[in-house]
Amino acid sequence: MIRFAILCLAMIGVFWGSAPAAAVETPCEACHRSYTPGIVSDWEMSAHAANEVTCSACHGDEHMTPEDTDKARLANWKTCEGCHAEQVEQFKAGKHSLAWASANAMPTTHWQPMALLEGQKGCTGCHKIGLKSDEEIQDLRDKGMKYGSASCDSCHTRHLFSTKEASEPEACGTCHMGIDHPQWEMYESSKHGVRYLLSQKGVLSDTVSAPKCQTCHLPEGTHENDTAWGFLAVRLPMPEDEQWAEDRATILQGLGVLGPDGKPTERLEVVKKARVAKLTEEAWQEKRTEMINICSGCHSEEMVKSELQKGDAMIREADRLMAEAIRVVASLYEDGLLEKPEHYAHAFPDLLAFHDAPTVVENKLFLMFLKHRMRTFQGAFHMNPDYTLWYGWSEMVRDLREIRRLATEMREKKS
Ligand code: HEC
Ligand code: HEC
Ligand code: HEC
Ligand code: HEC
Ligand code: HEC
Ligand code: HEC
Ligand code: HEC
Ligand code: HEC
Repeated sequence: MIRFAILCLAMIGVFWGSAPAAAVETPCEACHRSYTPGIVSDWEMSAHAANEVTCSACHGDEHMTPEDTDKARLANWKTCEGCHAEQVEQFKAGKHSLAWASANAMPTTHWQPMALLEGQKGCTGCHKIGLKSDEEIQDLRDKGMKYGSASCDSCHTRHLFSTKEASEPEACGTCHMGIDHPQWEMYESSKHGVRYLLSQKGVLSDTVSAPKCQTCHLPEGTHENDTAWGFLAVRLPMPEDEQWAEDRATILQGLGVLGPDGKPTERLEVVKKARVAKLTEEAWQEKRTEMINICSGCHSEEMVKSELQKGDAMIREADRLMAEAIRVVASLYEDGLLEKPEHYAHAFPDLLAFHDAPTVVENKLFLMFLKHRMRTFQGAFHMNPDYTLWYGWSEMVRDLREIRRLATEMREKKS
């Protein structure tokens, strides 16, 4: 604690000394220098301080004493929009802007403890990157959850708001990690990541060609992010390969987008609205072509096309195993061995029930889908053979075996 205080004092000393000469200290800075010195020193290092964008530009100037702090306006993305309309517009065109809506559209989200949702300690701890409407922000406030509506502080964090920070792959790692989207872990140990991290450390020159997340996903400084396959790796139109088409239809049934009768359900509307999947060949191809062009800056076009096609092929293979497993569990519903939970939309196992799926066999199925199927293709797209094989494919093969065994046991017990 004492060491921290000394460090803070030292930092204040250094940056106070080096603060832009023109800046006259505002009452906000003066008082906050003692209450929240870390905020003031970060702000002093920022492009905002250099351009006289002061505390009150984002927080208003109604609060002036320790007693009236509730008058301070908490900045949200609309505050940024006033001065950075271009970035906000790009952001809206990309998928990050939809993250709040997509998490809230999931039935499972609302079965979790409040701290995980409104409190942003679970799903919405990451999904807060999505834009919230004024009504949503107000609703959170009414529930006593007033922080975390800025979205724009997810990569260049407050109060530094540094492009340097946002431009490094670590800025993405907080959210793009873990069981269903370990892009950070896959990247970090891929040749792409190893090269980049070595150049970051200064072992290799910083001009060495090595892609980071931003190279492939936010090229040329854009804020618009979107990939061809997306998170769930399902899309329309259905593939020509008959087996794959059948398997994908089964997965869409497991996702509740198609009903047991094969007809679209109301969930298809949610998928459309949150742009979870590409619905036309053109929309998919546009994103694929963009990616090929990026890779082609460092590899031959022929090589990257064939590499990306291998990723597509891993989706097809994974779908084969996944559909088998879904059908095994679906047959348990059909034969009355598993009870269909009240809140399930239809007779298929609901993959979107996540860990709230009531039985062991359904939980196996959820992990097979969300953890292992994801890794199988995400690893292929991120040049990480170990994720594709051992953490992905191999686990899926074993999941299917286990699901079959559990189903057999349930049938034996019944007879
Ligand atoms: C005389 C001291 C003082 C002045 C002047 C002052 N503040 Fe504060 N401010 C505080 C204190 C104390 C807190 C509460 C800190 C805490 O909770 O630890 C606070 C809290 C805040 C908060 C957070 C509010 C919340 O809901 O958590 C913001 C934002 C803020 N101040 C901005 C400003 C701005 C902008 C100005 C100038 C217009 C300003 N402050 C002027 C003392 C001051
Ligand atoms: C460019 C806009 C911007 C400027 C300038 C700015 N802030 Fe903030 N501030 C934010 C954002 C965004 C948040 C996060 C709000 C949230 O979580 O909902 C925030 C949150 C805060 C908080 C409460 C949350 C926390 O982390 O404790 C305090 C206190 C605060 N700011 C003080 C200041 C002070 C003091 C200054 C000036 C030295 C300042 N801010 C300048 C954008 C800004
Ligand atoms: C009152 C206008 C204003 C507001 C409000 C504002 N900014 Fe800025 N911002 C600027 C100016 C001026 C610059 C410096 C010139 C530039 O880079 O455009 C800047 C620069 C930046 C940079 C580049 C920093 C760097 O390292 O070069 C980022 C990132 C940024 N702002 C983010 C934000 C975010 C996020 C918000 C909302 C929380 C916000 N700004 C609110 C005016 C503003
Ligand atoms: C605060 C958490 C957070 C951070 C930080 C973050 N992301 Fe995301 N990202 C998400 C969420 C949540 C989604 C899903 C959005 C949705 O609902 O469509 C997402 C989606 C994406 C997608 C779209 C995948 C698709 O569906 O096509 C890409 C690409 C992406 N992020 C790249 C990045 C990169 C690159 C960075 C770092 C510069 C980054 N993200 C930083 C949370 C984050
Ligand atoms: C560690 C951060 C994190 C947590 C916690 C998290 N997510 Fe996500 N979520 C992401 C990221 C990152 C993506 C995008 C991943 C990708 O495209 O590979 C995503 C994608 C999604 C998508 C797909 C959006 C789309 O359009 O493709 C949904 C829906 C979703 N999450 C819901 C949830 C729910 C519900 C929870 C809680 C049970 C949750 N998330 C917990 C980070 C998180
Ligand atoms: C997913 C991570 C991420 C999020 C979220 C994010 N940014 Fe950025 N931002 C970046 C990156 C990366 C850069 C550096 C771009 C470059 O290379 O010029 C950047 C740069 C900027 C700049 C400086 C632009 C310039 O040309 O100097 C501004 C301003 C900015 N962002 C505003 C915003 C606003 C406003 C939001 C919210 C709508 C936002 N950002 C959300 C990653 C992000
Ligand atoms: C060399 C380029 C490259 C780098 C570096 C890269 N990605 Fe990707 N990423 C891809 C490709 C290719 C896809 C699949 C695109 C498609 O759907 O066809 C992808 C897909 C994604 C997706 C959608 C789900 C998935 O994994 O298939 C997210 C989210 C994502 N990347 C985030 C990240 C993050 C975060 C980083 C850094 C930790 C990163 N990527 C590094 C090329 C890259
Ligand atoms: C900024 C340059 C850069 C970009 C962009 C880039 N790569 Fe790479 N890539 C490299 C380098 C350098 C290596 C290491 C080559 C080696 O292993 O000898 C590499 C390695 C690979 C490897 C391993 C090949 C081998 O010889 O072991 C594959 C596969 C690959 N990249 C595919 C892609 C794909 C697909 C994309 C686009 C999604 C892409 N790369 C984008 C620079 C890049």
